[in-house]
Amino acid sequence: TAHAAPLADGQAKFLGSAYSLHQAEGFADYWNKVSPENAGKWANMEPVQGQMDWAKLDEAYHFAKSHGFPFHMHVLVWGQQQPTWMKRLPPDEQRRAIEAHFAAVAERYPDLDFVEVVNEPLHHPPKGWSRDSGGYMDALGGHGDSGWDWVITAFRLARQHFPHAKLLINDYSITGSDKATQRYLQIIQLLQREHLIDGIGLQEHAFETTAKVPMEVHRANLDRLAATGLPIYVTELDIDGPTDEAQLQDFQRVFPVFWEHPDVKGVTLWGFRRGLWRDKHGAYLVREDGSERPALTWLRQYVESTAAHPADAPAQAP
Ligand code: G3I
Repeated sequence: TAHAAPLADGQAKFLGSAYSLHQAEGFADYWNKVSPENAGKWANMEPVQGQMDWAKLDEAYHFAKSHGFPFHMHVLVWGQQQPTWMKRLPPDEQRRAIEAHFAAVAERYPDLDFVEVVNEPLHHPPKGWSRDSGGYMDALGGHGDSGWDWVITAFRLARQHFPHAKLLINDYSITGSDKATQRYLQIIQLLQREHLIDGIGLQEHAFETTAKVPMEVHRANLDRLAATGLPIYVTELDIDGPTDEAQLQDFQRVFPVFWEHPDVKGVTLWGFRRGLWRDKHGAYLVREDGSERPALTWLRQYVESTAAHPADAPAQAP
């Protein structure tokens, strides 16, 4: 049965979900922040150079805005799902195409709350060439002296084009590893020097959070990231559910570590209905008949029970 208000209504933190046509039904009954799952990926928006297909992203944006939910633009720069036509352009034209893309997104969506500027820099920089990589790292300055010039350039451009949005970096397999956290911090600190970054994104997919890494490791690395002074957003949490009981136990073990951390300002699940990326691992929370799996019922009650947590900061404007 549907709920009258999103799960985290009245909370100091956002509780969002990836949004797509598969995820639309019942979305507003549970979640209060929207991240388009695939509609904001450049290759999907501009499969042919100069021919924009805005329909799906428009729909997601208007869904968010009509409900008063913050909209999280996933994603500008990523080494995957990039238009293949980028490969054929020389770097100076690639650079112009990147700027034109940022400008077009900014013009069409004047009220973006969060913009994910670079996704997965530690794993999938847009270099070289593969089926879905535009290979344009050099157009943004390559590695440079810092090792991360291309990321810094992307954020400088994003600041110019999206002066009112919170600019985020995003990556996976960070908090389960001290070494990855350290590498992520290097990039974040370079961006902080120029005041280019407003928040730290952490994907936290099931394979990371439910891996055999003690939750204490995740918690300690959350603390190290929080020491930057930046807010943290869990951007893509999902937890497999081969059985209801296994999913419930993992949710109870994993979710509070992120939700209760004082510097985690929101958690976004990577979808909740069937048709998910990890569908065959049972990562969904609502069955096809609309009923809740036990992990979702628990999540609802747990989030309600944390509403009066004294540690929670007052609600912040997005
Ligand atoms: O819609 C087409 C369909 O028309 C076509 O017949 C079919 C054949 O392959 O593909 C369908 O598109 C698929 C799309 O998902 C929609 O289901 C793509 O192949 C498939 O690559 C795409 O996968 C997405 C993946 O990112 C790659 O972009 C997943 O849905 C999406 O959940 C996943 O999300 C990523 C985040 O963006 C970044 N972090 C990791 C996360 C999980 O991989």
